[in-house]
Amino acid sequence: MVDAAHTLENLHTETRSFRPQASFAAHANATAYEYKKAGVDRLEYWREAALRLAWHETFTEILDWSDAPVARWFHDGTLNACDNAVDRHVREGRGDRVAFHFVGEPGDTQTLTYSDMHERVQKAARGLESLGVGKGDRVAIYLPQIPEAVVAMLACARVGAIHSVVFGGFSAESLRQRIDDAEAKLVITADGGNRRGEHLALKPLVDEALAASEHHPEPCASVDHVLVVRRTGQKTEWFSGRDVWWHDAVDPQPAEHEPVWVEAEHPLFILYTSGTTGTPKGLFHTTGGYLTGAAHTHRLVFDLKPETDVYWCTADVGWITGHSYIVYGPMINGATQVLYEGTPNTPHEGRWWEIVQEYGVTILYTAPTAIRTFMKWGEATPARYDLRSLRLLGSVGEPINPEAWMWYRRVIGGNKCPIVDTWWQTETGAIMISPLPGVTATKPGSAMTAVPGVEVDVVDDAGRPVANGEGGYLVITEPWPSMLRGIWGNRLRYVSTYWNHFDGLYFAGDGAKKDVDGDLWLLGRVDDVMNVSGHRLTTTEIEHALVSHPWVAEAAVVGAKDEVTGQAVVAFVIVRGDAHDIPDAGEEIAATLRKHVRKQIGALAKPRTILVVSELPKTRSGKIMRRLLRDVAENREVGDVTTLADSSVMTAIRVGLEAGTGD
Ligand code: WT7
Repeated sequence: MVDAAHTLENLHTETRSFRPQASFAAHANATAYEYKKAGVDRLEYWREAALRLAWHETFTEILDWSDAPVARWFHDGTLNACDNAVDRHVREGRGDRVAFHFVGEPGDTQTLTYSDMHERVQKAARGLESLGVGKGDRVAIYLPQIPEAVVAMLACARVGAIHSVVFGGFSAESLRQRIDDAEAKLVITADGGNRRGEHLALKPLVDEALAASEHHPEPCASVDHVLVVRRTGQKTEWFSGRDVWWHDAVDPQPAEHEPVWVEAEHPLFILYTSGTTGTPKGLFHTTGGYLTGAAHTHRLVFDLKPETDVYWCTADVGWITGHSYIVYGPMINGATQVLYEGTPNTPHEGRWWEIVQEYGVTILYTAPTAIRTFMKWGEATPARYDLRSLRLLGSVGEPINPEAWMWYRRVIGGNKCPIVDTWWQTETGAIMISPLPGVTATKPGSAMTAVPGVEVDVVDDAGRPVANGEGGYLVITEPWPSMLRGIWGNRLRYVSTYWNHFDGLYFAGDGAKKDVDGDLWLLGRVDDVMNVSGHRLTTTEIEHALVSHPWVAEAAVVGAKDEVTGQAVVAFVIVRGDAHDIPDAGEEIAATLRKHVRKQIGALAKPRTILVVSELPKTRSGKIMRRLLRDVAENREVGDVTTLADSSVMTAIRVGLEAGTGD
């Protein structure tokens, strides 16, 4: 049932445990009392957390669950997310604190204080309003990792508009789908971004997305304007009347803008994530509860000391990690952050460590795939830099294997930094399972236990909690403030995706195991979702992209274990017998199809391996048996084939591959 992302043996043999150091515990934001307080009265615990935000009108009701599974938290209060993240710090005398040390890939830097951010968000808010954007309107943001991305998100929040950030690595087609689904009125983009020393174009992809195309007979109808940041200076086609430069529409505006006060349940953003049917789901979060969850967990889990810490989350703002742990959580807490535009090996493999040294980074939050990449590059590289400023390390995105955990602790953390392995999802808005530094004794590879105020369990097929030492499905058993409020425009899909598996329990889609102490080990997805370098993809969406190519008759995609990326996309395709232009060589087919997937979805979905086969293993009811394909992709003995309609198919695939039709 469960796809173990690392071997189950680890769970039985892992005896290492790292107790918090007394010196860390003595000053930690978290104490064991948090669990106690939350255990006694969970709602009161969240009420107190919510009251740390700046409310325009305070709330009286904590949770209204009468319309379950759609929660309403703090619903009769009003506030503004941008006011909390920016204005408040200026108001309370913290305007001179650095909000961001921005580092561009080519080496350009900017230092932005909270006062600078205040000026920028007010101008941007005015700019948005001048383009007709107001409360409830949707704005798509398709930008590189530059300060304007943060400013754009906060300016949307400031005017009550709902942002939908689309990661810059997505294709024009993926962007169009997301713009259409949200009926965005405005797209904010840049001429381009910097990647591995090259200029990556963005604006042309927006132009392509908005135009009529093969998949879209009509040009996009909802978008009135495209607001363009000049980043790389690349030439770009200009559609007058529609396109507007940021430096024309935003920069000349007066830095005076009163935030639009919104109800706590006003949607703050939509973020699309892969859905099992192939069309991305627009998950949406609302204001009061989301901000409460993001800020509270950020303070406890990362132990943020805003006056002295330099915090660096390496995620892109295009993902939920960037939303919750670059923009909203840290900024509400008044953090000083590093924001880096580029890749870890541009211009050299020590770039991250150079940044840590230069800015004196104290808290680093990254993904296991990055850690494994650094392991591959060798410990001599980080050893060349002074990393002694680091005092806490975080991990997110996929299960972290114990070897990577130990390497992270020793090589990066100098054996002195607590590691927080944080489990959560786009849906949960904030960290759900993690050790609390200074409180929890950690085990390499385990995310340990739910954070205070969150109730999780591991259940069997019937929804009954499993005993310690057993595995099953991870569920969240009580509503939490930062939970998603739904799938944009589709309540039914929300209910059936998350709430119909186990009555009254939120089904996360992950397998998990409780060890003998009851601590949690995440085992990876139990559905068709793959996790490639911490990015979420579904088998179906890549299959759809593949079969949209004229050469492909049928395709099946699996996530195969990969040493660096966690999982890798492996595609099995049957090519059409009736198409004449198909090359003989498998490599040529593979290269073409890989390019095609990149064009359809984005570079992140490109299959690592494409294997041309003559048949696919199917059950009698016609369902593709991905389990068997995964066995092939991972070079394992093929498992039980008794439910196959034709048991010779697997032999044919093996023989075909050995004969060299594969890639
Ligand atoms: C899926 C959610 C939330 C931030 C980034 C990913 C996997 C995430 C962990 C972890 C084991 C993890 C799960 C989850 N995942 N963090 N610490 N240990 N697995 O967000 O794209 O919504 O993906 O990522 O499978 O369901 P996302």
